[in-house]
Amino acid sequence: MSDSHTPAGTSAPLNTRVAHNARVWNYWIGGKDNYEVDQQVAEQVAEMFPIIRDIARADRWFLGRAVRFLAEERGVRQFLDIGTGLPTVDNTHEIAQRIAPDSRIVYVDNDPIVLVHARTLLTSAAGGVTDYIDADVRDPDVILERASRTLDLGKPVAVMMLGILNFVLDTEEARDIARRVMAAMPSGSYLALTHPTFDFDLGGEGQIPAMKFWNENATPPITARGREDIAAFFDGLELLEPGLVSCSRWRAEHGSPVVVPQFGAVAVKP
Ligand SMILES: C[S@@+](CC[C@H](N)C(=O)[O-])C[C@H]1O[C@@H](n2cnc3c(N)ncnc32)[C@H](O)[C@@H]1O
Repeated sequence: MSDSHTPAGTSAPLNTRVAHNARVWNYWIGGKDNYEVDQQVAEQVAEMFPIIRDIARADRWFLGRAVRFLAEERGVRQFLDIGTGLPTVDNTHEIAQRIAPDSRIVYVDNDPIVLVHARTLLTSAAGGVTDYIDADVRDPDVILERASRTLDLGKPVAVMMLGILNFVLDTEEARDIARRVMAAMPSGSYLALTHPTFDFDLGGEGQIPAMKFWNENATPPITARGREDIAAFFDGLELLEPGLVSCSRWRAEHGSPVVVPQFGAVAVKP
C-alpha cells in the first residue's frame, strides 16, 4: 500500500474549506449535499468548461443504462461499485433490485461525506444485500477482501468504475488496479467504466484548463486520458457493443444525445 493515501476505514475528517469531488459532482447533477466552497469551484469550472454539467448527468444516465442492461439482459445479481459518489436518485442497488430484489451490491468510496450518507445506500430490498466499504481504490486487496464478505466471488460480478480511475494519476497504477480487481472475478464478470478524456474528437481539449484549475483549487487531483490508455483498462476483457464511446451515446435510449468528452464502455471477462 502506498503511504500517500488513507487506510481503509479511517476516512479523513470532513473538510468544508476545500472543494471535494464527491460534493462538487453532487452539485453538478443537481444534488443538495454540498457546501459553499464546492458550489463556488463547481461554478468556476463550469464557466471554463460548460459541458461539465452534461458530462456529470450523462455519466449518471450511463450508470442507469449499464446497470439495467447488466441486470435485465445479462442476469447479473452482484455489483461492486467503486467510487460510488453521494447517494442520489437511482443508485446502483435501487436500479438492480428493482429488476431483481435479491441483488447484492457493495459500494466503495473514500470520501468522508459519502461515508456520512452511506446509510441511504444500505437500504436494501428484502432478500438482497447492500454494503459500504470506506476504502481507497488504490487498495484493491483491501476492497476485494471486504467485498468477498458480501459478494460470492465464485459467481459473476459487475464491477463499476465510473469516474474513478481518473483520480489515480499514474496510468500504470490505474491499469494495475483494474487488472487486479478483474483478476479476482470469475469468467462471466463485467467491467463498466467511464473516464474523462482529452481527445479532441469528443471535445476534450476544453478539459485541460478546467482540470488545471481543479487541481490547484480542489481535491482529489484528477487527470483525463486518451482513448488508448482508457481502452487498456479493458485488457483481457471483451468490449460489448457499441464499444468505447462517449458515455452519453452508449446504448442511448433516445435519439443521439450530445457527445461528451467522457468515454464509457462495458466489457465481459471471457
Ligand atoms: C466523479 S464521482 C463519480 C460518482 C459515481 N461513480 C458516478 O459515476 O456518478 C467520483 C467518486 O470517486 C470517489 N473517489 C475519488 N478518489 C477516490 C479514491 N482514491 N478511492 C475511492 N474513491 C475515490 C470520490 O469521492 C467520488 O465520490
